[in-house]
Amino acid sequence: MSWNAIDWKALERMRVAFLQGTSGATDYWQSENDLASYDATFAQRIGWKWDYVLHELTRRGWSPPRGELLDWGCGSGIASRAFLDHFGPSSISKLQLWDRSSLAMQFAAKRAREKYPGLEASAGLGGFAVSSDQSESAGLRPGRHRAILPDAPGRRPALRPRRCSSATC
Ligand SMILES: C[S@@+](CC[C@H](N)C(=O)[O-])C[C@H]1O[C@@H](n2cnc3c(N)ncnc32)[C@H](O)[C@@H]1O
Repeated sequence: MSWNAIDWKALERMRVAFLQGTSGATDYWQSENDLASYDATFAQRIGWKWDYVLHELTRRGWSPPRGELLDWGCGSGIASRAFLDHFGPSSISKLQLWDRSSLAMQFAAKRAREKYPGLEASAGLGGFAVSSDQSESAGLRPGRHRAILPDAPGRRPALRPRRCSSATC
């Protein structure tokens, strides 16, 4: 994206919502250009944080279990692209992108497919079905090996996997 195409007004609107803590209330992605503008700016900083975290995981000898990867609250999809840059697209069998915004899921899936030709990338939860058990915070159905990326390094998704052989980073 060229610097001139960035929608600075949209970024300012989002920044205000992030700083005022109102961004959780409603979906703030209004257009594909919002996502492209975010991806070219704010998301880059998130990507640098992921690069650090992933490098540190490797330094400590961790590698992801082979299987599907879920990018939870994917936004423009910078987290999963950082993961795939680091471990390589062959480290996963499929990328699943989940967000309350369908615009965001579509954008992130498209960007991932463009960057990693041949990668299977889908919007939605796919095989990561939500458990109906409400006795504690709802969980994701355990089963196959998989890794889950929450919407910020160190933060866990609201719906967490339980009793499963997965990795959440
Ligand atoms: C600040 S953005 C972060 C996007 C991306 N993970 C990143 O690090 O750049 C937070 C994302 O979480 C999504 N989101 C907020 N609440 C959500 C929810 N309850 N379920 C799924 N996604 C949610 C928003 O739509 C937004 O795309």
